[in-house]
Amino acid sequence: MSEKVLAREGRVIVRKFKRSDLADRSAWPPYRDPLNTHLNFDLSTFIDRERWLFTRKANAGRMYFAIEDEQGRLIGEMSLRDIESHEKTSRLGIHLASNKVSQGYGREALAGLLTYYFDNMKWNTMYLDVAAFNFRAIRLYERLHFERMRDFWRRISADDCVLTAPEYAHIRHLMRRAPGGIEALHHDMLLTKERYFETLAQGTGEHLVAE
Ligand SMILES: CC(C)(COP(=O)(O)OP(=O)(O)OC[C@H]1O[C@@H](n2cnc3c(N)ncnc32)[C@H](O)[C@@H]1OP(=O)(O)O)[C@@H](O)C(=O)NCCC(=O)NCCS
Repeated sequence: MSEKVLAREGRVIVRKFKRSDLADRSAWPPYRDPLNTHLNFDLSTFIDRERWLFTRKANAGRMYFAIEDEQGRLIGEMSLRDIESHEKTSRLGIHLASNKVSQGYGREALAGLLTYYFDNMKWNTMYLDVAAFNFRAIRLYERLHFERMRDFWRRISADDCVLTAPEYAHIRHLMRRAPGGIEALHHDMLLTKERYFETLAQGTGEHLVAE
């Protein structure tokens, strides 16, 4: 691993995503839940990989980060898009390999990125949007002190079964049928540098303070 480490937190490091990561990424097991299958990408051919990289790296409005676990394996990615260099704001994306969720890696990776973003880059605000049915992600963001700003409906790429199958009954009210597809309620959230440093100061010197 030769890429510069941008942040270390718990078991993970955060660094820039590099072309050679694509081989590891393409070996991630796919998500099976229809609400997450949009996260699966077929990167088996050279063209697939170049297209994937082009939309992420060549686009000047994005920064792309890799998450490595304690064994140096690629376990996730984070992105900053809608970058406003003048305002020093951007919008977060985060996504772990399907076999790495709910083990605390997301919290460590995002805490690391926040340190880099606010302490090193000295940026002002991080925005994100999250589907209201994504309770795990919302818990993560709230735990790291993101605040909800507003709610809105957005089209999602999911099969109709999410509106009918019993396993989705508990989140059915957070989705609706719309012309040409399905929409899900989303939350817009943000974390300002003031709140980041304020909550850091109230903690124990590290950002992963249990609540
Ligand atoms: C969202 C994501 C990055 C979170 O990372 P993670 O490592 O899985 O999450 P963590 O284990 O760090 O923390 C999840 C928290 O949610 C809680 N949680 C898990 N499932 C939950 C559920 N169904 N309802 C409520 N809380 C839940 C966990 O207990 C944990 O809280 P705690 O720290 O207080 O114990 C990861 O799950 C992921 O990549 N998911 C798929 C892509 C995605 O949803 N991206 C976000 C799009 S906005």
